[in-house]
Order: sequence, then C-alpha cells, then structure tokens
Amino acid sequence: MINLFYVSISGNTRAFVKRLVAYASKVHQADASQPEIHAVEYTESLDSDIMDHPFFAMVPTYLDGGDGINNGVREVMTLDFRDELDQADPANLLGIVGSGNRNFNAQFGLTAKHYARRYNSPVIGLFELRGNDEEAARIYTALCKYQVDFARRGVKRALAR
Ligand SMILES: Cc1cc2nc3c(=O)[nH]c(=O)nc-3n(C[C@H](O)[C@H](O)[C@H](O)COP(=O)(O)O)c2cc1C
Repeated sequence: MINLFYVSISGNTRAFVKRLVAYASKVHQADASQPEIHAVEYTESLDSDIMDHPFFAMVPTYLDGGDGINNGVREVMTLDFRDELDQADPANLLGIVGSGNRNFNAQFGLTAKHYARRYNSPVIGLFELRGNDEEAARIYTALCKYQVDFARRGVKRALAR
C-alpha cells in the first residue's frame, strides 16, 4: 500500500488522485504484487495518522504572483497543509508530487520544489491541473519506485542536490 497525503483547494488535485487511485487499483488487480494507493485529503479536522507511516505528499502550487525567480514565491492557500506536514517526522516523507498550471512558466509546480528543500525529500513527479491517464501512469510508476527503494534501503532518499 502506498500512502498519499494531499491537499486540493479547487478540486483539480482531488480529481487527479481519484484517477490515480483507480489506475493503481486496476494494476493491482492484474498483478497483486503492485500496490494500491491509500489517499487522504487534508482537511482542518483530519486524522493525521497517515503521517505516522512512510507516505508521499501531493501539493498544487498557489503563489502570490511574480515569476517565481525574483519574486512571487510566497505560498498562499496551502499553508495549513504545510503546517500539518511540519508536524511529521521528515524521515517518513518519502517524496513530493507537485502540480500546477504550465501557464505559470518557471513557476510551474514550484511549491513542490519548495517542499523538497524544506523536508529534504525528492520531487518524484509533476502533473498539470487535473492530469490525464498518461500522467497517472507516470506518477504511479514513480511512487512504486520510491516505495520499493525505501523498503530495500530502510531510509528515504534525500533531495538530490
Ligand atoms: C491564485 C493562484 C495562483 C496560482 N499559482 C500557480 C503557480 O505559481 N504555479 C503553478 O504551476 N500553478 C499555479 N496555480 C495553478 C494551480 O496550481 C492549479 O490550478 C492546480 O491544479 C490547483 O489544484 P487544486 O484544484 O487541487 O487546488 C495558481 C492558481 C491560482 C488560483
């Protein structure tokens, strides 16, 4: 089982997670050695047990304008989720999946990159808006890879510098 903790403000990430969970379930049915995904959405009243075990975080990007290089790097909307992640043992946070909108150019998916530094965890993939089947397959493969790697080594991969 892969644990995935995510936040979704306007529903895109939620829609992608639904697609991803369905994809994982289909793969698992064809080959029981492939993991299913247990996804938990951040809410103010959530039971944060998911962070007690190895997990992945998924976060869309909400920044306050700018170009993401010289300015516009202040995170908005997802700060409560970040506060929650701050409570986790970073050793359990195996990787970050990011999302955003490519119209933001250099700022595409930037929050995931900020979290990578903050929690010393690799960005394992990015997808756009609600994603598609190809992105779901790619992200699932990456999640599996990092989970297997963790099971083998017993420690997470740090952020590649
Ligand atoms: C105010 C605002 C700022 C945003 N800033 C960025 C950004 O800097 N980079 C990016 O890639 N996407 C940005 N986005 C796009 C969102 O990340 C994208 O719509 C995402 O799919 C939202 O996920 P959600 O529906 O799960 O909340 C922004 C969207 C809004 C409304």
